[in-house]
Amino acid sequence: MPFFQFKKIAIVVCSLSFFSSIQGGAMSQVPKANEDEALVVMSPLPDPLARADGSLITDAKDWPEQRARWMKLIAEHEYGFAPSEKADVRWELVEEGLMNENKTKRQQFVVHIKTQAASIDVDLAFFTPNRSGKPKGTFLGLNFQGNHTVDSAPELRIPKGWVGNDAKIGVTENRASEMGRGSQDRRWPIAEITERGYAVATAYYGDLDPDYDDGFKNGVHSLFPNHVASAEHRDRWGSIAGWAWGLSRLMDVLLQQPSVDADRVAVIGHSRLGKTSLWAGATDPRFSLVFVNNSGCGGAALERRNFGETVARINTSFPHWFCPKFKDYNQNEAAMPFDQHTIVACIAPRPVYIASATKDLWADPKGEYLGGWYASPVYKLLGYSGLPSETPPAADISVGDRIGYHNRTGAHDILSFDWQQFMNFADRHWKYLK
Ligand code: GCU
Repeated sequence: MPFFQFKKIAIVVCSLSFFSSIQGGAMSQVPKANEDEALVVMSPLPDPLARADGSLITDAKDWPEQRARWMKLIAEHEYGFAPSEKADVRWELVEEGLMNENKTKRQQFVVHIKTQAASIDVDLAFFTPNRSGKPKGTFLGLNFQGNHTVDSAPELRIPKGWVGNDAKIGVTENRASEMGRGSQDRRWPIAEITERGYAVATAYYGDLDPDYDDGFKNGVHSLFPNHVASAEHRDRWGSIAGWAWGLSRLMDVLLQQPSVDADRVAVIGHSRLGKTSLWAGATDPRFSLVFVNNSGCGGAALERRNFGETVARINTSFPHWFCPKFKDYNQNEAAMPFDQHTIVACIAPRPVYIASATKDLWADPKGEYLGGWYASPVYKLLGYSGLPSETPPAADISVGDRIGYHNRTGAHDILSFDWQQFMNFADRHWKYLK
């Protein structure tokens, strides 16, 4: 084994054992996750069409008010409210060139997000087909390890700030290096995307908010020091809400690019970043399509289904992802005033695609499907159809109309197969936009 590979594995192993030793105490109090369908007991779900007084909405014109009620509850109890003050967003083009045998054009921007209190810089990489005419649409998503990992192009910038080897641990050093260049390209099939006529933009999530528990101080939280979650303010934004807010700031920048069609920008994300794309899609209606991949607990999967990761486990391993109030639902999911299907419903009538992987039991593929299924009545009220049946489809079959779904054979990941279904969905929906 080459030395650098050995070193990489050794770092991960050390990191994981460090992680288990710090989390071990708290985690041992949390019941083990269930991965046996026969043991699932699901308490009744709130009806997305039910008002606070229990009466049902039967007219589409009443949906906006109902949606606002859900959005407020979801922010307050799960992700936390983002600040209402604005930040100043500026960008500069720092590099451009061609790649993928000159078929893809690359542009790199540095985005400066500034308030009176602080400023942060985010590297945004933007890939478009190198041909005349506007791309058919743009996919915007955050990446886990730096823009230089999405493709082997030597020009792609390496993050300057925090890059943990295992984000759960809170290692504060920058572990990004040349070694990682191109290492995530299976998740970002840029050549395939641009050859199909789409643009794709990505930024490193740690540029927006480093992924460790620092008491909500660094990253986007530093821009609004008067809006930090605390014991008195348990409903202020955690990291997922911070990353989602950051996606909206990157959207601000994309909308100023001549190759971006404002009506055709999708938000996309995998895993914790799939939870993020779900929340970004719900909070920012400028995203006309929303792609939520292997998002699991805190994403599209229903919390009331006791399968895979639970609220108590996620809040113990990642205390900074959600707002402190979400901890009230540790082993108490049935008390949540909503469940994840209401978040999917808040995207309606915009199309949303949920994707699972067959071996990704931790994320509860069936629960992710049901998160879409139980949002479908809202699409129906608004005159569209969501998912076709309460039973999930067989593996690798893409189903649904305004809510799309597939369960890819294989492990927790986002791969070319997933992107192909997403692009088919985009072809279908963006074609009919005004
Ligand atoms: C952990 C976590 C998941 C999350 C995943 C990821 O497995 O428990 O909730 O989706 O990390 O983001 O990689």
